[in-house]
Amino acid sequence: MCGIVGYLGKQQAAPILLDGLSKLEYRGYDSAGICVFAENRFCVEKTKGRLSALSELTEVGTTLPGTMGIGHTRWATHGAPSQINSHPHVSTNGKICVVHNGIIENYQSLKSYLMEQGKTFVSETDTEVAANLLELYYEEEGDLLQAAFRARETLVGSYALGILCIDQPDSILAMKKESPLIFGFGEGENFIASDAPAILKYTRKVVYLNNGDMVRFTKDSAVFYNALGEECVREPELITWEMTAAEKGGYPHFMLKEIHEQPKALRDTLHPRMKDGQVCLEGLTLTEDYLRNIRRIYIVACGSAYYVGCVGKYILEKTCRIPVEPVLASEFRYCEPVLGDDTLVIIISQSGETADTLAALRESRSLGARTLAIVNVVGSAISKEADDVIYTWAGPEIAVATTKAYSTQLSVLYLIALYMGKLLGTWVGEAYEQMYRALTQLPEAMEQMLTCDCLKHIEDHAEALCRKHDVFFIGRNTDSATCLEGSLKLKEIAYVHSEAYAAGELKHGPISLIEQDTLVIALATMEALFEKTLSNMEEVKARGAHVLAVTTEETAGKLKKAADRVILVPRTHPLLQPSLSVIPLQIFSYYVALKRGCDVDKPRNLAKSVTVE
Ligand code: G6P
Repeated sequence: MCGIVGYLGKQQAAPILLDGLSKLEYRGYDSAGICVFAENRFCVEKTKGRLSALSELTEVGTTLPGTMGIGHTRWATHGAPSQINSHPHVSTNGKICVVHNGIIENYQSLKSYLMEQGKTFVSETDTEVAANLLELYYEEEGDLLQAAFRARETLVGSYALGILCIDQPDSILAMKKESPLIFGFGEGENFIASDAPAILKYTRKVVYLNNGDMVRFTKDSAVFYNALGEECVREPELITWEMTAAEKGGYPHFMLKEIHEQPKALRDTLHPRMKDGQVCLEGLTLTEDYLRNIRRIYIVACGSAYYVGCVGKYILEKTCRIPVEPVLASEFRYCEPVLGDDTLVIIISQSGETADTLAALRESRSLGARTLAIVNVVGSAISKEADDVIYTWAGPEIAVATTKAYSTQLSVLYLIALYMGKLLGTWVGEAYEQMYRALTQLPEAMEQMLTCDCLKHIEDHAEALCRKHDVFFIGRNTDSATCLEGSLKLKEIAYVHSEAYAAGELKHGPISLIEQDTLVIALATMEALFEKTLSNMEEVKARGAHVLAVTTEETAGKLKKAADRVILVPRTHPLLQPSLSVIPLQIFSYYVALKRGCDVDKPRNLAKSVTVE
């Protein structure tokens, strides 16, 4: 939520800041701003709306002089998107200028206190409190670093802050608590950013700051301080992935590109961990004894990652015979989960920084459970704090609506299922081997679904159905879990109201909403349950629904008149079927969104990385 960037070097700062922000727009895009330090003053430009508006206002940054600056792209939390509420924020006496990602939880009491001290406020944001607090402490201490140390004690909540001080024309200060922040080492120039793509064009050498860290840097040097305020060494890491991974590469949208990247992402995630019939989860510290003693598994996540957990419940219960409960991270902390040393908590998060998920991870650890995180972003907070981490090698995912992260997360759950099932003796012999074999072939199966013909076929359905306003997704078993994700996709990018129901549940209420031509998308890819789902399709058809069935070639012949339209998916091992069944749902939502004129990659009101509770 919100992206920040900072540059200090020899080049004109503003174009570099704008370029960096363009890679962070996935974090928020309701307003944007930059501040450069030039001729001993802060030059601030900010505006409501997309970054393109700011770029236009500043002629791609060329109108702003100066070689040092900070920038921000916003997802509003405190105060509506507006010019005034946009960052950067300058303090009352014009001494401090800040950009901020996070939430200052005690901002109201601090605001009252700062007003008593003569500070004034123009915006409704919590961030302006940070600017004024730093200014007050700076005035009292006469030293910015000391002021920042004090502010760190006072500020409650989360922040990645980029800070300019009017008396320091050659240095930028940055500090981090909870919200992500990286520092990039350049040659005669240095950077800060919320995420690597913002600075990857200029440097691959980065430090992922730890919680409580601070860095003060000039164009040639950087000094790091830890949470205790001690000077410390932070070893840089090299980013190995290519910049092209975070660019559209000829596709009209990141979402479409990322849909197409799924077979590769799956290969990268699966193949290094599958050798000679064995699943090798490198670096896992979970001992065999521990795994044998597990009595319950929680899968905790938000959004699509939670829906991966809903599929995972079926997979892990079947293979490991251990009760599995998927729980929304935002609920987990407040439902007094029964945790102990016989509980494994699997945390799933693409970004590794979702506030609720991170909080759930901490809660689990404090209550004595083991935590295993499935994360895509190396160096993220969740990856650092979990007992064990398995990375999804999906590469950077830019579209707000996830596709390849979802698919790789699911593929990691398959690996865990095989690994644990074998170890526990609950999934061995032919059952294990068939699933293992099918899993190695899953990327190819997915590739078959991404040909031009397949996409065109789904686009035609989308064209015909894009004006539907209420949609029901129904399915059974893993199909019902996949429906949850299909329905979310349609809501988030196409703004179509839709609901997902277990097919057998419809007649217990929601069927009353079925009218003439209501669209029902029926997933019937589980052969064993096909006839049951078919009956449910007939029930809605009899009440006037327009049915789009998603099924396999083997069962399509039995549909007869129960469906108006059909999308075929290749058949694979029943437990892996959800990986293929979700693909047409992603593509369908993509085309419906496109036909409805929606901004596919940046849907309204959303942000990819949700660092607030
Ligand atoms: C947002 C994104 C979703 C994602 C969810 C959880 O809502 O739009 O795509 O599933 O956050 O994010 P995480 O980074 O924890 O997977």
